[in-house]
Amino acid sequence: MTQELWTSVDDYISNLFVPFDPVMQEALGTSEAAGLPSISVAPNEGKLLMLLAQICGARKILEIGTLGGYSTIWLARGMASGGTLITLEASAKHAEIARINIVRADLTGVVEVRVGSALDTLPQLVAEDRGPFDLIFIDANKDNYSEYFAWALKLSRRGSLIVADNVIRDGEVLDSTNNDPRVQGIRRFNQLLADESRVRATVIQTVGRKGHDGIAIAVVVAE
Ligand SMILES: C[S@@+](CC[C@H](N)C(=O)[O-])C[C@H]1O[C@@H](n2cnc3c(N)ncnc32)[C@H](O)[C@@H]1O
Repeated sequence: MTQELWTSVDDYISNLFVPFDPVMQEALGTSEAAGLPSISVAPNEGKLLMLLAQICGARKILEIGTLGGYSTIWLARGMASGGTLITLEASAKHAEIARINIVRADLTGVVEVRVGSALDTLPQLVAEDRGPFDLIFIDANKDNYSEYFAWALKLSRRGSLIVADNVIRDGEVLDSTNNDPRVQGIRRFNQLLADESRVRATVIQTVGRKGHDGIAIAVVVAE
């Protein structure tokens, strides 16, 4: 198996299941033109997020890590009508691009972008009693995933879905001596998720145009 093959299979899947969508294409184009890194979820993963939101009938969604709003738009499209989504982003520049993309996607008034480090904005959400969220998507800096998971639990209810991206990292998570703080952060998160009795969880490895990685999916079973 090679990266070339994974990319071709991703194209095959996207051609079948993720038909061309000008709003999505423009969201990626605007982000690229503004110099944002190309680290949004792949189209088929975006659609998975939409499906998960739809499956759990989400009316309140929280996203940690907005970038240009690509995954935000997918999640919002899976939300029940009348729902709201809050997305947290540290970079003012990323948030500005996301807001442009969100307006273009006709999601004004549905999506709120909050700027600031998520470790500051998450406690604000608790203080404002904005939870519980039906679905929480963790996709910001990897070294803080454990902390984000702890806040996600505070902002959940029984039945809430917690999804986290990039939890395999080319298999680097196997190496306990790896000094990369992102790898260490993900290793801590995966262990915490496995040990947490309040959730039922698993991790699925993924390959595709974004390389070899993985996605964690958990359902809250006790508060
Ligand atoms: C992988 S990108 C998110 C991709 C996006 N979810 C998508 O698929 O379209 C991670 C984002 O998290 C943001 N970020 C990094 N550290 C953060 C922090 N401490 N708090 C909030 N956001 C942070 C980055 O600026 C970046 O925009």
